[in-house]
Amino acid sequence: MTRIITYGTYDLLHQGHINLLRRAKELGDYLIVGVTSDSFDRSRGKLNVRNNVLERVEAVKATGYADEVIIEDYVGQKIDDIQKYNIDIFAIGSDWEGKFDYLNEFTKVVYLPRTEGISSTMLRAEITTDVRVGIIGCGRVAKRFPAEADVVNGLKIVATYDVNQAEAEKITSTIEDAKTCKSVEELYGAVDAVYIATPHLSHYQYIKESILAGKHVLCETPMVLKGEEAKELFALAEENSVILMEANKTAHCPAFNHLMVMIKSGVIGDVVDIEASLSKLWNDQKSLREFDPGQAGGSLYELGSYPLLPIIRLMGCQYENLNLYSRIKDGVDMYTKGVLRYPHAVCSFKVGLGVKTEGNLVISGTKGYAYVPAPWWKTDYFELRYEDQNKNQKYFYKWDGAGLRYEIQEFISCILNKRFSTSRLRRRESVCMAEVMEQFTNRKNFMEI
Ligand code: CTP
Repeated sequence: MTRIITYGTYDLLHQGHINLLRRAKELGDYLIVGVTSDSFDRSRGKLNVRNNVLERVEAVKATGYADEVIIEDYVGQKIDDIQKYNIDIFAIGSDWEGKFDYLNEFTKVVYLPRTEGISSTMLRAEITTDVRVGIIGCGRVAKRFPAEADVVNGLKIVATYDVNQAEAEKITSTIEDAKTCKSVEELYGAVDAVYIATPHLSHYQYIKESILAGKHVLCETPMVLKGEEAKELFALAEENSVILMEANKTAHCPAFNHLMVMIKSGVIGDVVDIEASLSKLWNDQKSLREFDPGQAGGSLYELGSYPLLPIIRLMGCQYENLNLYSRIKDGVDMYTKGVLRYPHAVCSFKVGLGVKTEGNLVISGTKGYAYVPAPWWKTDYFELRYEDQNKNQKYFYKWDGAGLRYEIQEFISCILNKRFSTSRLRRRESVCMAEVMEQFTNRKNFMEI
């Protein structure tokens, strides 16, 4: 029996794929098709895939040529699979001619003729009417957005708006065919979706206006500082059939997501403790919004949603108690430590704009622990450590650019697929983060140090 294996993304399954699978099957008796996982595609920079892995697997199965479908999830897997499945022939389209010769050491490599004139890339281009995006608030944070949006398919930044028009002009000048709007109403008239990167306290109003104008919203974190406001806005978005998403870049990072899935699958046993820290010392404190109590400056509002993310993702929103301890200076917290008690776990986080601390993430379980060094909020590497050090494992990933591309991709995918919520940051999790901010504002269970 001759066993063949082939690999691909198989997005928007087309005749080229079907011909390839047929030719591969004709090489022998048993065909295994490796379909790339969503996270593997993202980690290798393929951010424009339209169908998710389940849809792609189903489409490959429906061709009737595959005897078995497997998922390709990591670099180097092909060699493992060839050995594991006892493969006689590795087949792939001729567009890869020469690229897989290194596998000849393990099996016979065959390049099959590619069907001319069709590809997933072509189909994506044909069915895409770009989502027109407008940027509201053109300060430091928003300046990173255009370059990141550039590598994601399916959107086009067409307009910008800022109360300070000169700031908006600066961003507009970096984008082809975009215009600077004189009013936010003018921007609403030109776009399908908005990215809001204004100071925290203006988020609520801009989000509400945008939703009522029928626009999808991606809003910088912290989205709002009150739980009820977050609930109200998510409900309003759903009522108006638009997507509202909090732009927490860590939540969309491929490595961070993989870590969360692994922990949930029990690789370190039951989680009993999580410690997450993040500090960012600023020199010129006085002039920055981050230090202005009138603009919700301070460490917790500014940085808190990042360390809260792994805690809430893994332990949920039902903590029994939260205590907050802060060093306050000139009306804002230079440093805050929070301790959350869950029924069977205790978690803590530290954030500092005026205090420097080791910024790592440690998740401790009954069988081992996960260690993610700083900057864990841009995870590209983590370790799973055990009592028996021989079992320790290190995981390496790619983190591209400023990392906003992953959240932008998910935002566009939610819009195109009409998904109101992303599994990477649930709406209830955004609400929970806003409730933590609110508790801090109300100085509840709070102590100054
Ligand atoms: N393939 C083919 N003929 C085509 C397109 C793809 O034979 N016209 C083959 C590829 O060579 C590969 C398999 O189909 O062996 C899966 O390719 P995949 O990368 O998923 O498809 P593409 O259409 O090439 O996707 P993209 O445009 O995203 O690169």
